[in-house]
Formats: sequence, C-alpha cells, structure tokens
Amino acid sequence: MHIPEWYPDQPAIYDINKSYAENASHGPFFQAEIPKRPEPSSPIDFLGHKLNSALGVPAGPLLNANWISLAAKLGFDLVTYKTIRSFAHPGHALPNMIYVDPKSRDLALACDDPRNIDGLTLTNSFGMPSKSPDFLLQDIEKAHRSLAEDQAMIVSVVGTPNQGVSFAQDFVQAACIAKDAGAKLIEANFSCPNVGKEEGQLYTNPEAVYQFAHAIVQAIRPIPLILKIGVFPTPESLSYVLEAAARAGVRGICGINSVAYRVVDQKEQPALGEKRLSSGVCGAAIRNEALSFLRTASKIIHKEKLNLELLGCGGIVKSDQFDEYLESGAKIAMSATGMMWDPYLALRYHWNRIDDRTKSHSLSL
Ligand SMILES: Cc1cc2nc3c(=O)[nH]c(=O)nc-3n(C[C@H](O)[C@H](O)[C@H](O)COP(=O)(O)O)c2cc1C
Repeated sequence: MHIPEWYPDQPAIYDINKSYAENASHGPFFQAEIPKRPEPSSPIDFLGHKLNSALGVPAGPLLNANWISLAAKLGFDLVTYKTIRSFAHPGHALPNMIYVDPKSRDLALACDDPRNIDGLTLTNSFGMPSKSPDFLLQDIEKAHRSLAEDQAMIVSVVGTPNQGVSFAQDFVQAACIAKDAGAKLIEANFSCPNVGKEEGQLYTNPEAVYQFAHAIVQAIRPIPLILKIGVFPTPESLSYVLEAAARAGVRGICGINSVAYRVVDQKEQPALGEKRLSSGVCGAAIRNEALSFLRTASKIIHKEKLNLELLGCGGIVKSDQFDEYLESGAKIAMSATGMMWDPYLALRYHWNRIDDRTKSHSLSL
C-alpha cells in the first residue's frame, strides 16, 4: 500500500514557531487521514507487555493524552508520555527548536529548514516543562485509555534539586505521581542536556545511578523502571553504569538522549540566547552515536548477563532505518524528531515489511 509523502510539503505536527503551551493545548497539528495499518503479524514481549511491533516514540514529542492517542493510531506501539516533574513547571521560552546543520560537530550551526528528511537535524531546548500533579493524574489515565490492544505506554519522570527534599527523593515523588496515575512502565530521565549539570549528567555517575535508581525501584515496584541515558566517553564508563543500574533493579535502558552541542547562528553568536549556550541536538546527525551506543551496550549486557532490555533512539528519520537499531541490539526502536516531521514513519515501516514479505514469498514460488 502506498503511504503518501509528508515532509516537506506538509508541516511538522509540532509547530516550532509556537510555544510549548500552545502546542500542548492545540496540537498535534495533524488533520490528514490515518492510513489503514496492515494486520500485525510479529508481536513481541516487552517487560511483560505484548506489543504489536518493536516501534516506539521516546520521551519528548508526545506532550499529553491527545499526542499519545495520535501516535498510537499512527502505528507506534510503545509510546512515551513526555517527562513529568513533581510540580508544575513552565520550561524555557521560545525558541525551543531550531534547525541545525547535520554536519555539525561539537559546534552546531543554525540553518534553514533543510526540506529534505535525510539530514533532518534540530536542537531542542525545553527545560522539561510539566503540568501539575492534578492534571497529570487525569491525563495519564486518559492517555492509557487511548491505546489499542497490544500497545503500551511509558511515563517519563525527572527529579528536580532543591524542592525541599533530596534530589533523589524528588525523583521518587515524580515517579509516584506516575504510579498513582496508573503507569505500567516508568522511565527516569537521568540525561537531559538542557537543564543544570547535576540533573543532566546524573547518568554518568555509577554510584548516583545506583542510589537514585534503587530508591525509585523500591517506590514503584512491581512497575518496571527504565533509565534514559546519553552518550559515554568510553565503553568502560558505560559498563560501570549498566552494572549499577542492573544491581539497583532497573529493567530497561533507553538511549541516547539528545547530544549537547554549543549552538550558534551564522555570526557564531549563541542561537538560543546568552543563557542557553548549549543544547541537545537530535535527529539525523546523532545516528552514528546512537548506533554505536547500542552496539556497545548490547555487548556489555550479554557479556555481563545483565537483566536489561535496550530501547534505541537517536537519528531515526526514515522508515528503513528502524531495523538497523533492532539489529544493533535494541528490543525497541524509537523515533522522536523523525515522527514529528513524518508522522507516517511507523505506517511506512509496517507496510514495507508486508511488501518485502510478499516479494520474497513470490520469489520463492
Ligand atoms: C521535542 C523533543 C523533546 C524532548 N523532550 C525530552 C524529554 O522530555 N525527556 C527525555 O528523556 N528526552 C527528551 N527528548 C529526547 C528524545 O527522547 C530522544 O532521546 C532524542 O531526541 C534522540 O532521538 P531522535 O533523534 O529520534 O529525536 C526530546 C526530544 C525532542 C525532539
């Protein structure tokens, strides 16, 4: 079946010229038809949940129940509710997303809309906005109700330092809001590149990973905990953290988060303003880092026999790219930036698989 093209003729479903709050209230900006999905034929088991496929959306693009509902209908079977805090928080003002040159290395250069999905790369800087616990309790429940059979949802949470309790305890409080709202899978974001160093680089410290993860695991059991982590300088440093996570009772590792780059305009001035010199780069430019992370993490998990599932994200912008992540050790392959600019990404994948199977069947006859 032919799925119509989307980008660049159709706009992204998240409007980067509008504030986060406007996108949350009025988005997703999607008025097209949802093409029919082929009958799911290869279900998988993920941490006790049967899923129609291994395709998902990581934390970020799905702002609330309306967004979750659309992504699920578009064929993403493991969807993530955007990171919540233990209290309402507005996040950063505009700009929150700008296009950057996909060839950027260390320094990301702002550029115009590339109008070509292959190199689609942006920086995202939101500061993890969150709705109030009261809103979340209802909206997370509503999001769950919007899923079809054999789909599941992760709720992403983050702690905030200096909230009158320890940083770890605030993580636990955010996770308990998710649990009270009926979350069946919880992910703790230990790696946001757009907040203070203490919050954003938690994932690199094995002792802190053990201590924070252990406290969350104990508070939410039996709900499985997944950790969201970023890139590591060496395989050894990744190995220490994976072992610490497994020891703490964590069941899944999702990586990579956006990669922090200094973002500048054409005059080499900070493109997001003086207060945000660096921010997370996502999309095509980080694909190699994501694949290398997955291969290394997968090797360590097998060698050390760690009880961890891998969720891969970072750089999937075309439907023929999901399989490389699954072949590199990921149980689930997820797209954030790609699905915002091409909401038909998962449906393209599902139909391509059917077409490939039909072709190989007719060749074997
Ligand atoms: C708009 C946007 C918002 C994001 N917000 C979050 C977030 O709240 N929590 C989180 O763990 N990751 C967040 N991310 C990071 C993504 O989950 C993902 O790790 C990263 O974008 C790499 O995947 P991609 O190349 O498919 O975009 C966000 C990404 C985008 C594009």
